[in-house]
Amino acid sequence: MGYSVFTILLVTFVSVSSQHTVGERTLPTLYEHYVAGGITSGLVANGRQFLLNGKEIRLMTGSIHYFRVHPDYWRDRLRKLRAGGFNGVTTCISWNLHQPELNSFDFGDGSNDFSPFLNLTKFFKIAQEEDLLVVVRPGPFINAEWEDGGLPSWLYRDSKVKVRSSNPEYISYVTTYYNALLPILKKMQFTEGGPVIAFQIENEFGSVARGQKVKDTKYLEIIRDQMESHGLTALKFTSDSVLSSKDAGSVPGAMMTANLGSQVEASLAMLKELQPEKPLWVMEYWTGWWDHWFDKHHTKPVASYLTYLKQILEFPANFNLYMFHGGTSFGFMNSATMKRTFPTYKSDVSSYDYDAPLSEAGDYTEKYNATVELIANYLTVKTKLPAMPAESVKMAYPSSKISESLSLSELVLLVDEADHVNSTNVKPMELLEVNNQSGQSYGFVLYRKTNVIIPENAVVKINGQINDLAVLMVNGVRKTEVFKDAKQQMSFGYFDANSTAQLALDSASVGGARTLDILVENWGRRANTKGIVSGSVLLNNDTIKNWQIYALQFKGKWLRSLSGWQAVGKMTEPTLFRAVLDIEAPHDTFINMSAWGKGSVFVNGFNAGRYFPAAGPAQTLYVPAPLLNKGRNEILVFELYSAASEITFSKVPILG
Ligand SMILES: *[C@@H]1O[C@H](CO)[C@@H](O)[C@H](O)[C@H]1NC(C)=O
Ligand SMILES: *[C@@H]1O[C@H](CO)[C@@H](O)[C@H](O)[C@H]1NC(C)=O
Ligand SMILES: *[C@@H]1O[C@H](CO)[C@@H](O)[C@H](O)[C@H]1NC(C)=O
Ligand SMILES: *[C@@H]1O[C@H](CO)[C@@H](O)[C@H](O)[C@H]1NC(C)=O
Ligand SMILES: *[C@@H]1O[C@H](CO)[C@@H](O)[C@H](O)[C@H]1NC(C)=O
Ligand SMILES: *[C@@H]1O[C@H](CO)[C@@H](O)[C@H](O)[C@H]1NC(C)=O
Ligand SMILES: *[C@@H]1O[C@H](CO)[C@@H](O)[C@H](O)[C@H]1NC(C)=O
Repeated sequence: MGYSVFTILLVTFVSVSSQHTVGERTLPTLYEHYVAGGITSGLVANGRQFLLNGKEIRLMTGSIHYFRVHPDYWRDRLRKLRAGGFNGVTTCISWNLHQPELNSFDFGDGSNDFSPFLNLTKFFKIAQEEDLLVVVRPGPFINAEWEDGGLPSWLYRDSKVKVRSSNPEYISYVTTYYNALLPILKKMQFTEGGPVIAFQIENEFGSVARGQKVKDTKYLEIIRDQMESHGLTALKFTSDSVLSSKDAGSVPGAMMTANLGSQVEASLAMLKELQPEKPLWVMEYWTGWWDHWFDKHHTKPVASYLTYLKQILEFPANFNLYMFHGGTSFGFMNSATMKRTFPTYKSDVSSYDYDAPLSEAGDYTEKYNATVELIANYLTVKTKLPAMPAESVKMAYPSSKISESLSLSELVLLVDEADHVNSTNVKPMELLEVNNQSGQSYGFVLYRKTNVIIPENAVVKINGQINDLAVLMVNGVRKTEVFKDAKQQMSFGYFDANSTAQLALDSASVGGARTLDILVENWGRRANTKGIVSGSVLLNNDTIKNWQIYALQFKGKWLRSLSGWQAVGKMTEPTLFRAVLDIEAPHDTFINMSAWGKGSVFVNGFNAGRYFPAAGPAQTLYVPAPLLNKGRNEILVFELYSAASEITFSKVPILG
């Protein structure tokens, strides 16, 4: 669909005029409208209509995940949402970040790389200051293309746990987490003067329940009851793709909502049939989609996007855009998709642009403008809207030369003793005795065997499962091939390798006192453990025993402590490269990694995400200005295969 200059000007005119006066009357803010005279009730379903504090409301909200947006930009993104006419923001809550270790919580008060992103109270307060209501999806499982759907990896250490079920061990961990989280949410409820009007129970549990002989309704009841017992009195709901799950994910005491990307009328008709006496609410209207490595970049054309949104509005139904602003899965926080056919595992890219109305860097898109124009016709309750905030300045900084490096063999010597364990056999990273009995959650795990005798024509086999991909070295020289083709994932060292897959070692490997290193990347968790998770490593059919295992987690504190940087030489194994960027002023930028192999980028110790240009579609990593310092900045690149000589920057993303 094309947009004339005229319609765009009209949108601007409408939003600008609405912030001043209509006739003689100054428009109230959303809160002034709904809170005037005091709060007596929150969001309630009154037949087919929602009421907030007794006044009619049609929910037109958008999803923004606080953990995917730099906290310095929360206000900007929220204001851009409100400026578009929306009346609320929806967010999930990521358990794995808030309870990074079994015995430690982080709501912004931790010393973790993500700590600044985790002050929920602050996010809610800013949303309220920006005149937005809040809908919360506290999982515990959130999916959201986020690391294991937000489940902490230390759950895998308890073999009795069955996640997403009424299994007592799982519930006991959920209870501990909820005891920390729910009191924070309670205080943020609308009826207590905060912005939160509704809570979701679990996430698309219907997709699990519909395959169960005996539906585990008890699980949803437990979640609901824990919310109730913590004083979460706001409206509860479940959310499912109703056409496939029908009411399988529902629970008494919570209303059903629908998730959809098309088939609007069929889905809403189904929801109406399942739940005739309640308002219709699309909890996820998919504005775009996310990307896997080796796939094309997904977009949803503005025209079809608008057609479906209009159908939702006309039905009529309440809606939430998933996503309004996707942001970034910084760090190692991308998830993956598991499939039945090859490749059985597909990792998600770090960008979560989602082709959403606001781009990954928070810029207005054609989709934003078109949405604003469309929903303006449906804003029956007229309230004051802010002006559209300006977009950030984007800078293509001059390229920075790679000046120094530390090879894997050098890095291993710098791993903290606490992140190094010895073990008779290989085992998954989650089971390592590191991180205060919580295991290793993210990054790379190195399995090292020293003093190996390698004969002529030796072969290495792994008679178990690798998650997700391995790079093998002998004496600091890589023997596995550069990963650049999806088909390689069937061969030695990859998750789809079968028991016949083996690696023939070359003549240069032959000799005594060899060091055999197998570095395994956790490429994003999806209901599986990481590393060499089963079986053994065999050299000519003999099981190798007594390994030294290193948890290479690339935490900021460790990265900032590294010393002994070397001049850059010939790269023979995975290596951490260093460049220094001196700048006058921090601005948003994109690091263009298209000349590199595969790895991760760290900006002043913060993990900006993964790159893998040969697999595409994404070639760039978004670096928000707040990650940069005026003056000197350190950019580190952990590269598995082949380095470029510099880091280059771009003003625009390359998403594929
Ligand atoms: C979280 O934000 C709230 C509200 O802005 C503030 O009062 C509190 O000190 C913050 N907590 C931390 C740990 O920064
Ligand atoms: C969106 O509208 C604003 C003015 O309201 C305009 O400045 C901007 O160029 C438009 N963006 C796109 C991508 O159409
Ligand atoms: C692991 O084994 C190595 C080599 O035998 C030894 O030097 C090191 O001290 C051991 N580390 C631990 C944590 O036991
Ligand atoms: C480690 O866990 C124990 C409980 O197992 C706890 O008492 C202690 O405070 C934790 N230490 C740190 C540094 O988090
Ligand atoms: C196992 O993998 C090898 C090499 O990748 C392939 O040739 C063979 O057909 C596979 N076998 C099975 C049973 O999948
Ligand atoms: C390994 O075992 C297989 C079958 O068990 C045998 O065919 C092969 O020759 C053995 N390889 C070596 C190097 O001993
Ligand atoms: C990204 O880098 C490649 C070289 O690796 C270059 O060809 C391309 O033009 C760059 N793209 C942008 C947008 O900077």
